[in-house]
Amino acid sequence: MILSGKRILLIISGGIAAYKSLDLIRRLRERGASVRPVMTKGAQEFVTSLAVGALAADHVFTDLFSRQDEQDVGHIRLARDCDLVLIAPATADLLAKMANGLADDLASTILLATDKPVLAAPAMNPKMWSHAATKRNFEILRGDGVHFIGPMAGEMAESREAGLGRMAEPLEIVAAAEALFDGGPKPLAGRKAVVTSGPTHEPIDPVRYIANRSSGRQGHAIAAALAKLGADVTLVSGPVTIADPVGVRMIHVERAEEMRDAVLAALPADIAVMVAAVADWRVASASDQKIKKHPGESIPTLALTENPDILKTVGHHTMRPKLVIGFAAETQDVESNARTKLERKGADLIVANDVSPATGIMGGTRNSVKLISQSGVEQWPDLAKEEVAEKLAKLIAERIKQG
Ligand code: C5P
Repeated sequence: MILSGKRILLIISGGIAAYKSLDLIRRLRERGASVRPVMTKGAQEFVTSLAVGALAADHVFTDLFSRQDEQDVGHIRLARDCDLVLIAPATADLLAKMANGLADDLASTILLATDKPVLAAPAMNPKMWSHAATKRNFEILRGDGVHFIGPMAGEMAESREAGLGRMAEPLEIVAAAEALFDGGPKPLAGRKAVVTSGPTHEPIDPVRYIANRSSGRQGHAIAAALAKLGADVTLVSGPVTIADPVGVRMIHVERAEEMRDAVLAALPADIAVMVAAVADWRVASASDQKIKKHPGESIPTLALTENPDILKTVGHHTMRPKLVIGFAAETQDVESNARTKLERKGADLIVANDVSPATGIMGGTRNSVKLISQSGVEQWPDLAKEEVAEKLAKLIAERIKQG
C-alpha cells in the first residue's frame, strides 16, 4: 500500500472530467491516502463541493480570500502540508496559469507556493490540447518538473469528437501517484533502455492505413516496469489508446520507419526491448490524395514493400545494447520460430507468445509466454501483462548485473 498515510492535495479544475474526480477521491482513500480537496470556481460548475467534501471527508477549499480558511489553514500551509499535489482534471487554463506563474485564485496560488511534487491529469478538447499554446505550456511545465498522466485518446464526454484530450481513468491516475512514491530497489539506476510498443500504422492514402490489433499494453507495461527499477527509459510507441506510463520519455510515432528512426536516435542504450507489432510491409507509394472509387473502373492493387526490421537493425548495430530482447507473436510453431528469430535478429532473448485468436492475447490483458535464449526455453505461467513486465524487468536487471 504505497499510498497509505500519504496526504494528497487534490486540485479539481473546471472541466466535465471533474465527475471522475469523485471516483478518484474514493480510489485514493481506499488505498489509505487522505485527500484534501481544492476546487476552482469552474470546477464547482461541474460537481458540487458537497459531493467532493463528503467523499473526501474533509473541508473543501475554494477561496483565496476566505477569512475563515486563511485563519484556520492558510494557502501556504495548504501548499506545504501534503505529500503530493494532484491536479485532476487539469484544464488548459490552469496549465497556462501554472506555466506562467500566475496566482489569481486559490488553486493557482497553491501551485506557485508548493514545494511538493505535482502530478497533473490534463483533460480538454483535443483541439485545445494540440494548440501551440498548450503544447508550449506542457513543455515548460515538464521542464519545471511537473509530472503528467495522460491525456488519453478517445471520445470526449461533451461531444462526439475523438482525439487526445480525455482525462486518464481514476485507476490510471492512482497508479501514476503510486509510481511517484515508490521507493523500492533501483538496480537499473543509471542504465538506459529503449522500448517499442503498440502497432504501426502504414498509410495507404491520407485517410486509410494498414494496422494490426496490438494494444501496446505489454510494451507499455515493460517500459513502466524498467522505469520502476530505476532505468532511464525511452518508450517509442505506435498509435495506442492507453496512457503514457509515468516516468518514461515518450515518443509517439505512426509508421515503422519513424519508429526505427526514434529507436536509433535513442542509442546508445544498455537495454533494448522491442515489443511493438511492427508492420512487416508498407504500401510502396502511399497516395497523397484519397484514392477514389470510380464506378466501372478496376479495383486498385496495393503494391507493398518491406519495412525496416527494427529489432534486427538494433541487434546488429555498432552501438548494439548489451541486452537485446525481442518478442515473437506467432500462431503456430511458436518455439521453433522463436529460435530462428533469436539467431536472425541478433537478440539475446526472445519472448514468444501464441497469439492465435482463441488465446485472446493480442489486445487482451493477459499473456502466457515462453522465454527462448541460447541457454534454453523457460515457460512462464499465464500472467497479467503487468506481471510479465515485472518478471521480465527483474530478469533484465539480473542479466545486466552479471555483465
Ligand atoms: O519477425 P517478427 O515480426 O515476428 O519479429 C518480432 C520481433 O521483431 C518483435 O520483437 C518486433 O518488435 C520486432 N520487429 C521489429 N521490426 C520489424 C518487425 C519486427 O522490430 N519490422
